[in-house]
Amino acid sequence: MNARVTVFGTGYLGAAHAACLAEMGCQVLGVDTDSRHTEALARGEPPFFEPGLGDLIRRGLAAGRLAFTSSYARAAAFGEVHFLCVGTPLLPGGNGLDLSQLRACVAALAPLLREPCLVVGKSTVPVGTAAVLAGDLARLAPVGEAADLAWNPEFLREGHAVEDTLHPDRVVVGLRSAHAERVLRAVYAPQLARGMPFFVTDLATAELAKVAANSFLATKISFINAIAEVCEASGADVVPLAEILGADPRIGPASLVPGLGFGGACLPKDILGFVARAGELGVPDALGLLQEVAAVNARCRDRVVGLAADMLGGSVAGRAVGVLGAAFKPGSDDVRGSPALAVAARAHELGAHVTVYDPVAIGKARSVCPELEYAASAVGAAADAEVLLLVTEWPEFADADPEVLGKAVAHRNVVDARHALDPGAWRAAGWRYGAPGRPRVGSGERYHRRLRRVVISLC
Ligand code: UGA
Repeated sequence: MNARVTVFGTGYLGAAHAACLAEMGCQVLGVDTDSRHTEALARGEPPFFEPGLGDLIRRGLAAGRLAFTSSYARAAAFGEVHFLCVGTPLLPGGNGLDLSQLRACVAALAPLLREPCLVVGKSTVPVGTAAVLAGDLARLAPVGEAADLAWNPEFLREGHAVEDTLHPDRVVVGLRSAHAERVLRAVYAPQLARGMPFFVTDLATAELAKVAANSFLATKISFINAIAEVCEASGADVVPLAEILGADPRIGPASLVPGLGFGGACLPKDILGFVARAGELGVPDALGLLQEVAAVNARCRDRVVGLAADMLGGSVAGRAVGVLGAAFKPGSDDVRGSPALAVAARAHELGAHVTVYDPVAIGKARSVCPELEYAASAVGAAADAEVLLLVTEWPEFADADPEVLGKAVAHRNVVDARHALDPGAWRAAGWRYGAPGRPRVGSGERYHRRLRRVVISLC
């Protein structure tokens, strides 16, 4: 399709969406009120790390199908389809999502809409938001009801944004008109031609599909981490256990990797936003389980700091802690809600001397946690450490040679919070190895002693 498309908001979601639409043949104008963002993107330099995105943007720019602006007037005059990809962060206090960027975007765009067009929300929003925005659009746009609204939630993962956008599992569109369906079928024609499932719903179902999906993923992650707690108490091993669960096709292995839990800009805020919306809708009990999901997730971080303290004889205070990872997951430089950085910051709060290394996220980590020390390599973070924490499973950490890191540290203690290392190889190199939900050396005997006491007390 050669549609003229605008994308408002050029963060992780919007920049990927704009570049991929250009790749799919649309004429695309990316719009952001932050001109530093649009200028960097117009030079072909995304202001964040996302594999493959820079190449795609440069290809779109060179083909003349992609441009960036901070002018809403230019965007309104250009676009037949306007995608809204601005952020919807958590409100301070965690009580619902902050929709101010979305409202400001619609308030600024609508009065400029003089021709029939389709506005398509992609941001994650509380159910009911799209219906309100549709009313705002019709009221504020000179073209009135001919400024139609649809909701097309995004399911891409950071670190896989390009692949997920060009080859999504499914596209969901919440619609109010047959015309909107025709327009969106044309935009997604390349994917439809490959047989991608295309779900047409009402606005509310489309909005809910996104938060329900993220809530389910978060629940799966917290489920396996809750099981990891039981494994620790019982001497079982969560790693093979997760594989056994994942081998059941009704369960599946995705989002069942135990360890440090979920972070980022999406899962943590979406479950809290969803709980808040359910309360507003008068069904607070319906999502009570998501509060437990959040509680399990918070405990993961404490348990990893606890494992490090145990290795050091009970406390990290005054001890040297090397931290491998800062990004909320590998493949991204995003440190928003990062469990890795939270663990580093907590150890620092408890009095540890913390040195962090991450292959791409140090710049962002330093601006959020300037109090931590940062190293330029894994060996630098490990230098003189009394315990080493692996908190983001970058391949370079998983592949690290335990001998090389062993020569750098003061004591060979490692906490593998992401289950990325081969415990056998690290133990063979003389490391004490600990990981959430895995038996510690000696814990088998401790467990059997505890079990014997329980059995005796029952008899
Ligand atoms: C998530 C969803 O997966 C996307 O479908 C959704 O579009 C996106 O949020 C969004 O709402 O924009 P993302 O935040 O990029 O994507 O990250 P995930 O890959 O889902 O991972 C989230 C967190 O869970 C990471 O901290 C990761 O380390 C952790 N995780 C993931 C686990 O601890 N265990 C797992 O098995 C999987």
